[in-house]
Amino acid sequence: MPKTTAAPWVPDDGGLPALQRASKDCRGCDLWRHATQTVFGEGPAHPDVMLVGEQPGDKEDLAGHPFVGPAGRVLDEGLAAVGIDRRRTYVTNAVKHFKFERGTGKRRIHSKPNQLEVQACRPWLEAELSVLRPRVLVCLGSTAAQALLGRTFRVTLHRGEWIRSPLAPHVLATVHPSSILRAPDEAARAEAMEAFIRDLVPVARLLASASGEKRSAAPGS
Ligand code: URA
Ligand code: SF4
Repeated sequence: MPKTTAAPWVPDDGGLPALQRASKDCRGCDLWRHATQTVFGEGPAHPDVMLVGEQPGDKEDLAGHPFVGPAGRVLDEGLAAVGIDRRRTYVTNAVKHFKFERGTGKRRIHSKPNQLEVQACRPWLEAELSVLRPRVLVCLGSTAAQALLGRTFRVTLHRGEWIRSPLAPHVLATVHPSSILRAPDEAARAEAMEAFIRDLVPVARLLASASGEKRSAAPGS
């Protein structure tokens, strides 16, 4: 077992609230040292979908909530476009602390978490999965996809496809919302957004058919 691991901080029971609370004290790797706070996953205990990003960004680090900055707005836009209610989703990240480099002045520039940090933080993600047991799991970007589906997984090859995985009955990967923000110009951005939305369509279809089944199965409806 690697020395850098969140495992000693992860409680065995108590559900989501216990995990959220305990994560505040995690010292499983060095990322807590420079970050403001742990940004744990958030959402209902029985979400329609669990969404996994990479790590909190600058805004998330300050706010203490996942996907509330620019990438969060792209995510919201994508979900809204296919009719997925973000309030019915559980949103988390592969790594729970913001990793950054100092730019000029006070600017903090996102720095990609390395394999050791992703591995160290995995017990939190595993605990979230085992408590939530989501029916649908969506990986946003290669850090999340590789953390959950293996390091040989290629988002570029398999985005928008259902992936067979023991993690959940329905698993899909797409790009990270931040990649859309990094598009070089407006046309490329619009195209990247369209492709992101296209990837989310099968998820929305699945949810729509599931809620239809529930309605038709309900007695007296
Ligand atoms: N990017 C992520 O991967 N997660 C966040 O919470 C914000 C930006
Ligand atoms: Fe713990 Fe993860 Fe933060 Fe590292 S990044 S200190 S493993 S919560």
